[in-house]
Amino acid sequence: MSLAALEVLRFERPVLHVLDQALLPGEERWLAIRSLDELTEAIGSLRVRGAPLLGLCGAAGVALAAEVDAGEANLRLAAKRVGAVRPTAVELASGATACLRAVLAVPEMARAAAAWDFCAGYLERRRAEDLALATHGVAVMPRGDVLTHCNTGTLATGGVGTALGVIRAAFEAGRIERCYVTETRPLLQGARLTTWELLRSGIPAVLLPDAAAAALLFSGVVAAVITGADRIASNGDTANKVGTLGLALAAARVGVPFFVAAPTSTVDPGCASGGEIPIEFRAPEEVGGFGGQRWAPGGIAAWNPAFDVTPGELITGIITELGVVEPPYGERLAALTERGRWEGVHG
Ligand code: MRU
Repeated sequence: MSLAALEVLRFERPVLHVLDQALLPGEERWLAIRSLDELTEAIGSLRVRGAPLLGLCGAAGVALAAEVDAGEANLRLAAKRVGAVRPTAVELASGATACLRAVLAVPEMARAAAAWDFCAGYLERRRAEDLALATHGVAVMPRGDVLTHCNTGTLATGGVGTALGVIRAAFEAGRIERCYVTETRPLLQGARLTTWELLRSGIPAVLLPDAAAAALLFSGVVAAVITGADRIASNGDTANKVGTLGLALAAARVGVPFFVAAPTSTVDPGCASGGEIPIEFRAPEEVGGFGGQRWAPGGIAAWNPAFDVTPGELITGIITELGVVEPPYGERLAALTERGRWEGVHG
């Protein structure tokens, strides 16, 4: 497979460089992040986002903190702080914890260097896992056009992506002709980021309002739905960008397969079912306007969960870097996650 990933994040001690996703697609500007404060701001405002990429950012938080004070107390505090900025993507906190564990194993004076080395190795591993995941995914994707939600490409992982990596591989293999993309209100990751990535990859993309997705599925033009995941409970219940649940319900109603693509590091054995997954709620202002423009009256209340949980029973298969798991998930997912456990990140 000849999939190439764009560069969206670079570790250059003592600076973390990231492509500012809040400005895309209008402007391609790199941010130089030099402190934990700058990093937490970038994560909170979605300049960097996407579950696997957040894992790398969690680890980078420890590296940035180690430049100031590599003592154990400070590093523990930094890992906790960065891991708490967004609660749903399990890898933000587990990436920070993994880096912390690695650096605490070396003498204090060697910790900052060890942390940056850890980050570089983590990115390499991520890239390799994305490619393996895409290979497994392409084998199960039916021929025909595909619908996806949010952004799960290079921007979200640092590699070729999860669901978008599968889509790219399937396009390259001649299995799909076009990709339908939901706009993904309220922060428009689909409209701004996924379309940008698909166009750069030469894949015909069709953008639709979130509210049109059920009608699209009922029209019969879509052969499969594929999304990413922020956290997968042991029983297969999956948290992903809000709107995913509606897609899964509509897909089940019309008999279209609904796939989740995520590395095994997204599975959280600490959550028995979806009800235990913490869901991030964001500011009401995000619903009432965008990019400095408001369209709802000031002071209006809003219900703005960033994620929802799709029951495992609605998921046709979970595509990972180690293979595809089909329901019933429980023990099958546990066996795969155990195999995928790698130093630190699965803790
Ligand atoms: O709020 P975001 O943009 O970080 O949400 C991202 C998603 O929901 C993605 O689908 C998920 O993180 C998987 S990314 C490979």
